[in-house]
Amino acid sequence: MTEIYDFGKTCKGEKTCLFQITNMQGAFATVTNYGCTLVSLFVPDKNDALTDVCLGYETLQEYEKSDGYLGMLVGRCANRIAKGKFSLNGKNYTLAVNNGVNHLHGGINGFSSKVFGFEVKGNTIKFTAVSDDGEKGYPGKITLTACYSFTDENELILKYNAVSSEDTIINITNHTYFDLNGQGSGHAMEQKAMIFSRGITEIDENLIPTGKIISPEKNSPFDFSNLKPLCRDLNADNPQLKIAGGYDHNFVLNGDYDSSYGIFGLRKAAYLVGDDTSIAMEVYTTQPGMQMYTANFLTDRKGVIRKRYTKNAGVALETQNFPDAINHKEFPSPVLKQGEIYSHTTIYKFLTV
Ligand code: GAL
Repeated sequence: MTEIYDFGKTCKGEKTCLFQITNMQGAFATVTNYGCTLVSLFVPDKNDALTDVCLGYETLQEYEKSDGYLGMLVGRCANRIAKGKFSLNGKNYTLAVNNGVNHLHGGINGFSSKVFGFEVKGNTIKFTAVSDDGEKGYPGKITLTACYSFTDENELILKYNAVSSEDTIINITNHTYFDLNGQGSGHAMEQKAMIFSRGITEIDENLIPTGKIISPEKNSPFDFSNLKPLCRDLNADNPQLKIAGGYDHNFVLNGDYDSSYGIFGLRKAAYLVGDDTSIAMEVYTTQPGMQMYTANFLTDRKGVIRKRYTKNAGVALETQNFPDAINHKEFPSPVLKQGEIYSHTTIYKFLTV
């Protein structure tokens, strides 16, 4: 069942809504069409108490004015594009830069701050938005649909589709910060994680991939082949961790393909457990990478229900193509050709262990 509430007007006067999708178990997700943002996600803990496992704000104004992309859909291209420059079909393009000299998450006012059109059907909301030809410097007019479902099995299913009027590049993700101990618990880094990957894309001092893939040694900071608390190696003496002030790296996924959802190319990406609540989350995706970001740049701010968030208040598991892929021939291509369809599915499934 999906209920729709008024979420106020943006500073430009656009009306927004807050949707609550409640499943048969009483668990629910709230989402706004401002940036297709996941505002809260209440799932049962080991005692069956509903627990909000994602960081969010109470008002639209906080979403509009705050950085950090809490819960938002980001794009046209998630993560960084070096110096905002790339070439496609022999033409050079320069994108708006918003992160030092680099382009980040589609630039200021990318998809994360658009008000999406919507259509509700049962436990699914289909959001639609357009990014015009030339917006932020990208070629082609993109029409993006994002279908968000929350199932009776406590699965949050995110399905993205996009088409472009011209050849372009695209990389859409969701930027939810998870704290399975309950949002604002103050010990999100004690969550345990396991990642199905063969390594990370190495970054330089500007957090831009060098092109090299680092395969971690057993038990080293980037080895998540066994479940371990995020805090175990967070401050380890490791050059990649030092650059980013924690984890802020793209993991090259190599998990087993999973046919249970009938979605082509869907594989297991990660597994996260809240040590306090015993809430666990399985992540599945059709994308080749996943940015694990331990909120290293998150500054102190007010969250929901008297909670405060600060550095390391959650972990984002952003399923995506590799950052700056257009400038690395060896990475999977982010090109969306005119007439083709971009499609990406990510599933976050919740259970208790
Ligand atoms: C992450 C990115 C971080 C930071 C954050 C937003 O996806 O990897 O470096 O920019 O978004 O604050």
